[in-house]
Amino acid sequence: MARRSLQLDEHGRLRHFLAIEGLGRELLTEILDTAESFVGVTAQAVKKVPLLRGKTVVNLFFEASTRTRTTFELAAKRLSADVLNLNIPASATVKGETLLDTLHNLEAMHCDMFVVRHADSGAAHFIARHVRSGTSVINAGDGRHEHPTQALLDAFTIRRAKGGFGHLVVAIVGDILHSRVARSQIHALTTLGVPEVRVVAPRTLLPAEVERLGVHVHHDLREGLRGADVVIALRLQHERMQGAFLPSEHEYFQLYGLREEHLAVAKPDCIVMHPGPINRGVEMASSVADGPRSVILQQVSHGIAVRMAVMALAMGATHRREATREVGTKGERA
Ligand code: NCD
Repeated sequence: MARRSLQLDEHGRLRHFLAIEGLGRELLTEILDTAESFVGVTAQAVKKVPLLRGKTVVNLFFEASTRTRTTFELAAKRLSADVLNLNIPASATVKGETLLDTLHNLEAMHCDMFVVRHADSGAAHFIARHVRSGTSVINAGDGRHEHPTQALLDAFTIRRAKGGFGHLVVAIVGDILHSRVARSQIHALTTLGVPEVRVVAPRTLLPAEVERLGVHVHHDLREGLRGADVVIALRLQHERMQGAFLPSEHEYFQLYGLREEHLAVAKPDCIVMHPGPINRGVEMASSVADGPRSVILQQVSHGIAVRMAVMALAMGATHRREATREVGTKGERA
């Protein structure tokens, strides 16, 4: 598969991180295990490890982002990389420079990694095909296609809360049709061995033949949540909707907005997740977002460790034991 070989080198190691689709359970588990070793870095007196010292990471964000961009930046800094945040609206792309020209100029400055978010599906793949060898590309969300680090930080949060994947019912609720997060989550969770992944949405917000991805489809929220261990709500992606997919946000909340009463049919210890940004009163009630089952802020924290793992592995910079040594300790590399 072309896509697989683009992401992996000839030894099956990560070179770029563009999509979950095509990656195997072993590699996904290696990333999660590596992330586990990075969680402690935040608790150290010096919140840094030297794995990417001397490397330059460029955040190339052509679309709005808060959590993803800042956690990628923090992840790179905790790996001791130099980080450049390219402010796209103020950059030469608005003067007509092509994406490839921008890229080649950045490469001429000897940048080692590009973290790319773009409104077009396939943008990160396109860039990965054009960078020189040794430069890594990480997809931070491309159109409706994939958002692989989000899916892995979600999987990481689930594994920490539930201890594994092999016994779980996971319900993904909301705008599956326009969501790159949903696509990546479905690939990640089914690959990691979740036996039942459900999608819960009105027909207008589901892709055609979504069952082919290995999910169970529900249109009724209570039915979809019954017995669930994990409930993931997704934002209505209005910016990707052309035409009317919903009567109104009010009606959507009545039918699909998560409230305490719905969660009563899920497992008593179920957790509630959301990739953010949340629209309170649309995807979920505030009492759920801020309630005892919510792990939404843990997802954000875990984003740093998971992104550190992906970056370190893609640069060939880590193995697990070495990963946690502090800068300035005996573990420091010359
Ligand atoms: C998601 C995205 O941008 O795809 N957000 C995120 O990365 N935290 C989901 C969304 O925008 O709804």
